[in-house]
Amino acid sequence: MTKQTPLITRLLSLLLLLFTIIITAEGTSYGTYDNRMKLFVFGDSYVDTGNYFTSPSYKLPYGITFPGKPSGRFSDGRVLTDYVASFLNIKSPRPYSLKKSSELQYGMNFAYGGTGVFHTLIDGPNMTVQIDTFEKLIQQNVYTKPDLQSSISLVSAAGNDYLKFFVKNGRSTKGVSKFTASLVKQLSLNLKRIQSLGINKIAIVLLEPIGCLPIATENTSYEKCNGTLNTVAMNHNHLLLQAVEELNKEIGKSVFVTLDLFNSFLSTIASMQRNHEANSTLMNPLQPCCVGVSSSYYCGSVDEKGAKKYSVCDKPGLSFYWNNFHPSQNGWHAVYKRVQSSLRKIEDKNL
Ligand SMILES: *[C@@H]1O[C@H](CO)[C@@H](O)[C@H](O)[C@H]1NC(C)=O
Ligand SMILES: *[C@@H]1O[C@H](CO)[C@@H](O)[C@H](O)[C@H]1NC(C)=O
Ligand SMILES: *[C@@H]1O[C@H](CO)[C@@H](O)[C@H](O)[C@H]1NC(C)=O
Ligand SMILES: *[C@@H]1O[C@H](CO)[C@@H](O)[C@H](O)[C@H]1NC(C)=O
Repeated sequence: MTKQTPLITRLLSLLLLLFTIIITAEGTSYGTYDNRMKLFVFGDSYVDTGNYFTSPSYKLPYGITFPGKPSGRFSDGRVLTDYVASFLNIKSPRPYSLKKSSELQYGMNFAYGGTGVFHTLIDGPNMTVQIDTFEKLIQQNVYTKPDLQSSISLVSAAGNDYLKFFVKNGRSTKGVSKFTASLVKQLSLNLKRIQSLGINKIAIVLLEPIGCLPIATENTSYEKCNGTLNTVAMNHNHLLLQAVEELNKEIGKSVFVTLDLFNSFLSTIASMQRNHEANSTLMNPLQPCCVGVSSSYYCGSVDEKGAKKYSVCDKPGLSFYWNNFHPSQNGWHAVYKRVQSSLRKIEDKNL
């Protein structure tokens, strides 16, 4: 069993090995420019691209526009993450739940639909836990310091925290300012932590106008936004902007950039409302495309026999909202166009 391998064979395999190493190394350096930027995503369904296996987002009619079947996105198609990734010229990062060692180069998406900064109505990983998971990957050297230094983080949060607050408080806004203060405080700690793990560019979304969500406007037949709830969002954003400014000051450079979902939702909705008024075949942007057939059902519901208990609008591409809580791909695309100038700010810092 100790038969010696002939020297020539050993030399040949050594050569082959060297050759392979050179080719691989060249492959790597050739791809360096693309490999440089990675996107790490934390938060909720506005940015989740498939982490929540047991949610409706993995059932029809989710995903009918893109990728053509349910993919765990809470939309008929692309969500904000996909557009941010395309802006950075990379593929949308893989959801952590679908982690594969071969697809780490675009970063990782830890966002989980229904979750928040604190514990929410669902039993998913809050943002702290999502960051813990990220930290473990760094400790395991899945991502290295240089990887992180050239990476970008996208953070979306707070909608579900408020949802829980209002459900628990019988829709009353009593005590909401105190809640906002503690929420922003925790969120700010989370942001700081992402930065201290080594990411130098972090985009955080401001809270959308929660009073315009179909869940808040169905009461008025989707005619107008709930101003009380929008004021809650404005106060939240006011505090968050202050917190972000303080963080940037502390660090001494503009690591944190905000994406203004509040004004981009409102201006998109206003412009679609004008179009709807001029041409009634266009959709009322406050009306969701996909709804349950009655209040006991929701978008994606089926009965015991598997029969559909929801309806989908004729042209999802003309809607702003996909369901009671989430923009459609068309909605996200319009919002993305309006936050592009802020995204340019994170790119610039790379120069
Ligand atoms: C997040 O969840 C973990 C695990 O359930 C919990 O220990 C932690 O307190 C939560 N963090 C916040 C900020 O609510
Ligand atoms: C708007 O939202 C507030 C807070 O949940 C609620 O008390 C109020 O009834 C809502 N207004 C309408 C017209 O639905
Ligand atoms: C619907 O609106 C009325 C006031 O117009 C309000 O009293 C009620 O609480 C609202 N219901 C919901 C579900 O917001
Ligand atoms: C109204 O919008 C529909 C859908 O986009 C379009 O096909 C139609 O030409 C428009 N009508 C007018 C009068 O602009």
